[in-house]
Amino acid sequence: MICLGIETTAHTFGVAVIRNKKVLSNVKDSFTTKTGGIIPNKAAEHHVDVCDEVIKKALEEAKVSMKDIELVAFSNAPGLGPCLRIGAVAARSIALQNNIPIIGVNHCIAHLEIGKMLTDAKDPVMLYVSGANTQIIAFEGRRYRIFGETLDIGVGNLLDSFARHIGLGFPGGPKISKLATLSKKYIELPYSVKGMDVSFGGILTNLKQKFDSGKFKEEDLAYSLQETIFAMLLEVAERAMAHCDKNELLLGGGVACSQRLQEMAHQMCKDRGGKCFIPEPQFLIDNAAMIAWLGILEHKHGRRYKLEETQIKPYERTDEVEVLW
Ligand code: FE2
Repeated sequence: MICLGIETTAHTFGVAVIRNKKVLSNVKDSFTTKTGGIIPNKAAEHHVDVCDEVIKKALEEAKVSMKDIELVAFSNAPGLGPCLRIGAVAARSIALQNNIPIIGVNHCIAHLEIGKMLTDAKDPVMLYVSGANTQIIAFEGRRYRIFGETLDIGVGNLLDSFARHIGLGFPGGPKISKLATLSKKYIELPYSVKGMDVSFGGILTNLKQKFDSGKFKEEDLAYSLQETIFAMLLEVAERAMAHCDKNELLLGGGVACSQRLQEMAHQMCKDRGGKCFIPEPQFLIDNAAMIAWLGILEHKHGRRYKLEETQIKPYERTDEVEVLW
């Protein structure tokens, strides 16, 4: 089955074509600003502007034409309303024009399923870390459950906000990573693990205060920031693995591109006799291949949508999705 997937939950407009498990193309165009941050309506305008071009490129790279597409999948949840709406409209018009089935899928679950499809992970705990999202997800009781999550901002948002505060620009994650390699001096920061959840707001305030005091070097703060927050995330992920009796960890989300997080994740898994799986970066960040793949998976297991059921669900939680596959 050939599926065209469309991803538009946030700043990325992505289109991918996949044939069963083979990714034929995975194209994206992301909304950016010089100062960083997403303005939902501006991002949606960007998606409208690039829509035709990105679809065309995805078909060309896949060496297929629109009439070869047998299923169209789009991210219907969770995300920014104005952005989600553009993907839904594009998917509906493709479904109507070509008289093919349409399917809306959950973005967070798509990150997990593409990771499983591309690696040897069978039943992992996923650490999903991006700008807006920070969740520890695993399959239990016939659903994907959130075992832990951020109580305030996403971890990527923390990195971007601090990077912006110290004048590094956007996106902050890679710039903080680079800066952190210049230091090995740990400065104590708040360590905010609350039960199975994490909180980043206090760390951001504390970091800004430390930086503004002029008493600390920025590379020491960057190093300490990474060491602290990645330890927090892996502590909760490890606890979820122990609780669910699973020995696989899967990373997903843009922050999972961080080399230091990857090293620490591998180390944690090694220490407990588990395995760590990390897809290549194009499948860690927001991408449409994961939307197309989850579309195929759900369609094969009988999920069907009437056109009037394709409304977006900006606030849908991972565990609201009934897992048929
Ligand atoms: Fe994402």
